[in-house]
Amino acid sequence: MTKTIILADDDNAIRKVLNQALTRDNYNVLTTGTASGLWNLVNENHADLIIMDVVMPDENGLELLPRIKKMRPNLEVIVMSAQNTMMTAVNATQRGAFEYIPKPFDLFDLRNIIARALQKKNIKSHNITDDNIDSEQLPLIGRSQAMQDVYRSLARLLNTDLTVLITGESGTGKELAARALHDYGKRKNFPFVAINMAAIPRELIESELFGHEKGSFTGATNNSKGRFRQAEGGTLFLDEIGDMPSEAQTRLLRVLQEGEFNTVGGSKAIHSDVRIIAATHRDLTQSIRQGLFREDLYYRLNVVPIRMPALKERKEDIPELVKYFLYRSTEEGLPWKKFDERAMNRLKQYNWPGNVRELENFIRRVGALYSQESISIEVIEAELSEFNPIDQDQNPILSNISEVIELLASDCLNLQKDNVEKGDLYNLILKEIERPLISYVLNISRGNQLKCANILGLNRNTLRKKINELNIPVMRTPK
Ligand SMILES: Nc1ncnc2c1ncn2[C@@H]1O[C@H](COP(=O)(O)OP(=O)(O)OP(=O)(O)O)[C@@H](O)[C@H]1O
Ligand SMILES: [Mg+2]
Repeated sequence: MTKTIILADDDNAIRKVLNQALTRDNYNVLTTGTASGLWNLVNENHADLIIMDVVMPDENGLELLPRIKKMRPNLEVIVMSAQNTMMTAVNATQRGAFEYIPKPFDLFDLRNIIARALQKKNIKSHNITDDNIDSEQLPLIGRSQAMQDVYRSLARLLNTDLTVLITGESGTGKELAARALHDYGKRKNFPFVAINMAAIPRELIESELFGHEKGSFTGATNNSKGRFRQAEGGTLFLDEIGDMPSEAQTRLLRVLQEGEFNTVGGSKAIHSDVRIIAATHRDLTQSIRQGLFREDLYYRLNVVPIRMPALKERKEDIPELVKYFLYRSTEEGLPWKKFDERAMNRLKQYNWPGNVRELENFIRRVGALYSQESISIEVIEAELSEFNPIDQDQNPILSNISEVIELLASDCLNLQKDNVEKGDLYNLILKEIERPLISYVLNISRGNQLKCANILGLNRNTLRKKINELNIPVMRTPK
């Protein structure tokens, strides 16, 4: 049977294009350019689907949405909008939209969404609310395509309890996204508890998370509740999950699989009703290869991945972010500033290795140090070089190497816990460094050991010995 789609958009061109495309797809299409027209069409017809714009001349489509859903709970609505803020996505979803699609969009994507909406048999209970979220209080700033993808994922996840893994470089807004998921989701009236694995001594992480019984280890002088129980009913944000020690990983896996855990030293299983959001700036697949992260835990956590884009991938958002941080500075009592065009362009060129956090600190610093109202490119140049004496494009890996080694060392120590004093840490770590180094140079020397030894500055026999010791495969490849 032909399905009927109501199309509401005040833009004639969009209406025409979509009408043609959907008619060609064998849908019966009814069009209107106003909210009142939409309301009438819904009343007078047995439509199967609505595709609607947000801004219409007589009424905002999002205001009308709850009324439509109330009257026709089974009628799915796809909201499209050029107002690409996070709040549009969130509002649309909270008011019962099936899907939100930012303009401009690809017809192919829209077709997929339409097919999914029409297929949907089970009506999920949408959380229709009239709560007006103050759009001045937007938690995440940016309208770039990269952020649109993030908003869409966030909006879809709001009313679920699915486990989320947020990845992204440092300072890209991982924690902010986690908070938004909680603050606008169905657990918002329960606690949001954040714990950073990298900030707590490794040997204390299990007891921090799961609590402990008095006397279960030296120093455990009282029972402690643990973050899982503190977060009961709400959300637990596990920040820097890649730094979680292996014993804690095992306990966490059990919570995710069975919904229960034991305190450290406790024997009774405790039931847990907590939504888990995890974040990391590491590549966990690499940690899995290095044996530092459990693969089964990774799949449990990675049910829905969200990747926060680096700021350099969304430079078009920089002016809006700058404005937002300037506004925040004035709230802190600093005078209003503006950046002239050249200055703003320079900010857009810069690579921002520290991402939004670096930009935020930069704006605050300029706001505090310079008294003039209009900030010029000279000020920016001076501050950028002062701020970041090493060019950010130089070897970002170097700052990571010590991190990797610390992590390796601490994990080796954990594994050899009972035998630390008679350990072999130095040689173990050196091997970890030698193996990839020699493999790499062998590779670029196409398996020619003499060449490889020359590049490394090693004696040929020493290299051969190391290759044997470290079990490195040697393959000669033709040029
Ligand atoms: N899209 C955004 N809009 C506004 N502010 C943002 C945005 N993204 C990040 N910020 C701000 O940048 C700072 C860093 O964000 P956040 O702490 O969420 O990053 P992170 O990814 O968790 O970083 P790290 O890995 O270093 O912990 C915060 O002050 C946050 O408010
Ligand atoms: Mg963080």
